[in-house]
Amino acid sequence: MTFGEAMPEIRVTPPGPQSRAMLAKLQRNESAASLWAAEPETPIVWARAQGACIEDVDGNVFIDWTGGFSVAVAGHGNPAIVAAIQEQAGRLLHAQGVLNPSDRRVELSELLTALVPRPLEVVHLTTTGSEAIDVAMKTAVLATGRSHFLAFQDGYHGKGLAGTTLSANRKFRAPFASVLGHVAHLPSPYAYRSPFGGTPDECADRCLAYITDLLDNPASGVVDVAAMIIEPVQGNGGWIVPPPHFLRGLRALCDRHGILLIFDEIITGFGRTGRWFGGQHSGVTPDLMTCGKGMASGMPISAVVGTRDAMRHWTPMLQTSTFLGNPVCAAAAIASLAEIERLGLVDRAARMGERFNAALRALAARHPLIGEVRGIGMLQGIELVRDRATKEPAAAEAAKVAAHALRNGLHINNRGGRLGNVLKFSPPLVLTDAQLDRGLAILDDALGAVEAEMSRAPAAART
Ligand SMILES: Cc1ncc(COP(=O)(O)O)c(C=O)c1O
Repeated sequence: MTFGEAMPEIRVTPPGPQSRAMLAKLQRNESAASLWAAEPETPIVWARAQGACIEDVDGNVFIDWTGGFSVAVAGHGNPAIVAAIQEQAGRLLHAQGVLNPSDRRVELSELLTALVPRPLEVVHLTTTGSEAIDVAMKTAVLATGRSHFLAFQDGYHGKGLAGTTLSANRKFRAPFASVLGHVAHLPSPYAYRSPFGGTPDECADRCLAYITDLLDNPASGVVDVAAMIIEPVQGNGGWIVPPPHFLRGLRALCDRHGILLIFDEIITGFGRTGRWFGGQHSGVTPDLMTCGKGMASGMPISAVVGTRDAMRHWTPMLQTSTFLGNPVCAAAAIASLAEIERLGLVDRAARMGERFNAALRALAARHPLIGEVRGIGMLQGIELVRDRATKEPAAAEAAKVAAHALRNGLHINNRGGRLGNVLKFSPPLVLTDAQLDRGLAILDDALGAVEAEMSRAPAAART
């Protein structure tokens, strides 16, 4: 068995002394924005990762259900990707973006063009997801001559200025409200909490009816819309999976109103949902697609891919960046795409995702703390509530479940949802069946422990 396929091994209760000492240094030296270290979620410091395993600086080994923010699609430290990086680093570390491309960049653009659904075919490489969002927004402005945007409640598109404009969370927007662009946030089909209510299909229909009115109604207040942006599965919002007909409805509306449709596939791309791209579950192709995260399974590279028509407005030098198409990141992306193909990870995500979802539903049958199980492919999660009838969110309990699981060797600290009560799981797609089963057992135990604590001291558990 390789390290990447290992089972957890806890030598010292995490976070151990080495992690704590290093966190203290970070807190002295870095901006407060760059570390989340609130109890009980004091993090471990990672020292090594491979496959679906992480080792911390105290020598503890964890099963990883975070994927490092959904990035390690082909596994942490995938040997083929590491070899490609090493080979490329020995030859050419950096080229000159817009002036002098590298051979690797030529290869990657061609691969991406071949991979994405038609009519998407023109690539613009970027470095982070947020930069890809910048480029997508600017493309829409150029292509339409308009400057307002439609995004979705519960949506997240990064923390650059463009992403902050489009993201919905008040906490991230409010301090910068004066410099954000024009955007209206539309209702998302989050049936569990939507005021529109109903089943997921009914909720999606009602959201669509609302959005249709917003666009048709000359007195709705919405004007000059360049583009509508949506994540095919809302990530930060808590793994909200729209029914396929919702995205089809949005496509029809955008076509009718001459609005570009942008799919933010930064989490959902590269096999994570059980298709190469999340939008493919609905058969809808957008005018622009942003990708990042899993594109190179761990190196910073991202892209916007658009239709020729949407992208034809760009002229040389109008959008450049120093690290555009960095050769080492491009080599990593090429190797990652090959590994996803070679290991059959797209199909594996679909198959394992079904098993994962069924297992979480079985846990929900025994754990009242679970209000809803949501997910598709290897994006699976649980929304925790203190009371199933009132749906009172259980954010503090979610943090406790994550901390308890960490102490037993399961890493699940990607907590999200508008109320912070969704535990979001997005393991590397190479997670083994045994690692999935062990992780489920640890999660079961953590849920039980927090429920027991709640029943012993209901008031204390709420603080
Ligand atoms: C859907 C989505 N869009 C954009 C971003 C921003 O990407 P980055 O953090 O690489 O800038 C994220 C990051 O989590 C994301 O989930």
